[in-house]
Amino acid sequence: MKTVRPVQGEREEIQLAYIEINGGRPLQGEISSSGAKNAALPIMAACLLARGDVVLRKVPRIADVLVMSEILRSLGVRIDSGSNGSMIINCDSIKTVRAPYELVGMMNASFDITGPLLARYREAEVPLPGGCNLGSRPVNFHLDGFRTLGAEVSSDHGYIKAKARALKGSTIDFPKTSVGATKNCMMAATLAEGTTILENAAREPEVVDLANFMIKMGAKISGAGTPVIQIDGVSELRGTEYEIIPDRIEAGTYLAAAAITGGDITLRKTNPDFIDSMLTRLTMANQEVTIGKDWVRVKGRRPIFSLEVTTAPYPGFPTDLQPLLASLLTIARGTSIVVETIFDRRFMYVDEMRRLGADIWVSDRTAVIRGVERLSGAPVKAPDIRAGGALLCAALSAEGESRISGLEFIDRGYEKIEEVLKTVGADIRRVNHDAHGN
Ligand code: UD1
Repeated sequence: MKTVRPVQGEREEIQLAYIEINGGRPLQGEISSSGAKNAALPIMAACLLARGDVVLRKVPRIADVLVMSEILRSLGVRIDSGSNGSMIINCDSIKTVRAPYELVGMMNASFDITGPLLARYREAEVPLPGGCNLGSRPVNFHLDGFRTLGAEVSSDHGYIKAKARALKGSTIDFPKTSVGATKNCMMAATLAEGTTILENAAREPEVVDLANFMIKMGAKISGAGTPVIQIDGVSELRGTEYEIIPDRIEAGTYLAAAAITGGDITLRKTNPDFIDSMLTRLTMANQEVTIGKDWVRVKGRRPIFSLEVTTAPYPGFPTDLQPLLASLLTIARGTSIVVETIFDRRFMYVDEMRRLGADIWVSDRTAVIRGVERLSGAPVKAPDIRAGGALLCAALSAEGESRISGLEFIDRGYEKIEEVLKTVGADIRRVNHDAHGN
């Protein structure tokens, strides 16, 4: 993170933050999974639907969760800490349905509050999310879904305004599978009159977790995890206690770190089913994978075999793990082909990876990776969350020192990543200092 701030009104000081890694050490040991970011964020938003307290366990301590907390607080939501790190959310005295741009603009998932606000308060005013580092992030499927349920939706001075006297169940057929639109429309439909059918719905485990959470609050939802979800509207949802599922993208990151460093990591408290597509690719790449009920062990083996992989919605290979797998393939034997089908700017890490000695070329949505013997440490900058994870993995295997900046992205998705990696033997530390070396 780099900020420039005036000091004593005279000179300026540049704050630098980066993670320093001395690479080349095999990582060994055990790591416990955190709660899933992409389940926690919509579940926090879905609390807007409920009367009474909601107690959430396993909410990850990451920057995106802080942003969602602040957005909810700005609406008048009360959020307290409970026992054992739980979070208590109460949405009974909302003071506005208008969310501030400064917070919503910080992450795409903020738009998740729109469906619940519309469902419970019949009105939502949420800034249009705009683009992000992965490319343009339209919300047209969300808005068309709200319209199908009977809402009037307009765009006004950068804000989406959605209003409805009453939402009415209907069939929403998404033109393309969208995680965000499935979650938002599913939340909106819980309090609608009658039955809603979502067709071509996203099947990601985080969609299922959100559905299970809302079912626990009294919603009637069936089919989550399949392409057709049915929601029978109910008159109200009530507070409950709920534990968020383990984070599969964090899991894939640590397993990639085990493989790329030639290490041996056992990931505990995870769900191996959620990362099946990653475990299959690791096995195909000649890595030793052992799967238990709620744990996975990856032992890095050499040579790493090259792969051809194409990203796809769940249960296909996830776009969020594409940079992580690509980092492993930079030192594979032979040439790998990685095709990205979800986000147009998902290869932004490639130039940085080349600074570490990788041989990668991108044409349109395809990356060609020619494996090199080894990577070499260098200063690099994370362009987005998972690219940050991938650069960390690459730096962990590279010979010599790397400095990874762009921590504002890494901290959005990973809970205390340098502390976790230190416990499995990484030579890693976070550095915060000003330009004078303080
Ligand atoms: C979610 C995840 C993100 C992951 C992505 C795909 C969260 C907080 N984020 O993002 O980490 O990479 O799923 O698995 O859960 N699209 C439209 N119009 C819309 C909505 C989406 O054209 O209204 C397009 C997008 O541009 C993209 C594709 O559909 O090309 C899939 O996007 P979507 O599944 O909605 O991703 P997110 O929910 O934003």
